[in-house]
Amino acid sequence: MFSKKADLSNNPKLDTERIPAHIAIIMDGNGRWAQARHLPRVAGHKQGMQTVKTVTMAASDLGVKVLTLYAFSTENWKRPNDEVSYLMQLPIRFFKTFVPDLVAHNVRVMVMGDISRLPGATQQAVKDAITDTSKCTGMILNFALNYGSRDEIVRAVKSIATEVQTGQLSPNNITEQTVSDHLMSSPLGSLADPDLLIRTSGEERISNFLLWQIAYSEFVFTDTYWPDFDGQALQKAIIEFQGRHRRFGGLKNN
Ligand code: FPP
Repeated sequence: MFSKKADLSNNPKLDTERIPAHIAIIMDGNGRWAQARHLPRVAGHKQGMQTVKTVTMAASDLGVKVLTLYAFSTENWKRPNDEVSYLMQLPIRFFKTFVPDLVAHNVRVMVMGDISRLPGATQQAVKDAITDTSKCTGMILNFALNYGSRDEIVRAVKSIATEVQTGQLSPNNITEQTVSDHLMSSPLGSLADPDLLIRTSGEERISNFLLWQIAYSEFVFTDTYWPDFDGQALQKAIIEFQGRHRRFGGLKNN
């Protein structure tokens, strides 16, 4: 079902030689998608899970190297218990049905966030997916699960402070790279910083996502609710990215 390659031919504006290496997505609008159909909010999350499958395959086919998806934030615990419970079941359902497709497409699963607070069965499903795809060398599908960027930065600061306290690190030797190396995205190495950040549903804010890593990311906001997002919408966002001039603080032509 997911073996069909993303059709690149129907979008002549897309430059397949300049696909962003790391795309991060704030998947928003599941609740409003459901509400518009007089369905319970969780129906939006269920459809959102299908979109994760579609977009994962589209990104992999396009040659994206890392796709980071904001699946559950440290603030999402504030939602009603039944919605949180449903969201906790989703990774189990997702990996149960989808790991064979991921392996077939050489996609490796990684996770950033404190998964120790997730229910045992959810933790196990996540760990199994990481193990089962650990030999895949293609795109990294990186889930932010119980992730919050301020929490991530606090943990990094504590860890750096401990290294200073124990004499392993001198304060004078702390660099931007030191901070990057202590963040949850450090296993991604040189690909840790997204080139493109997409947020769906018309909201235009960052919501505690990758605050350090998006310093020079290009942002694309779309009104489309996440359950309606698809491979074509991804290509459209990439085309918008390709029209931007990234200067990283320098001048246009240097
Ligand atoms: C935001 O929409 C969405 C979430 C908080 C959950 C995102 C989760 C998924 C898309 C499914 C994840 C799938 C896996 C495999 C982990 P919202 O509920 O805030 O929407 P609203 O703003 O319209 O209410």
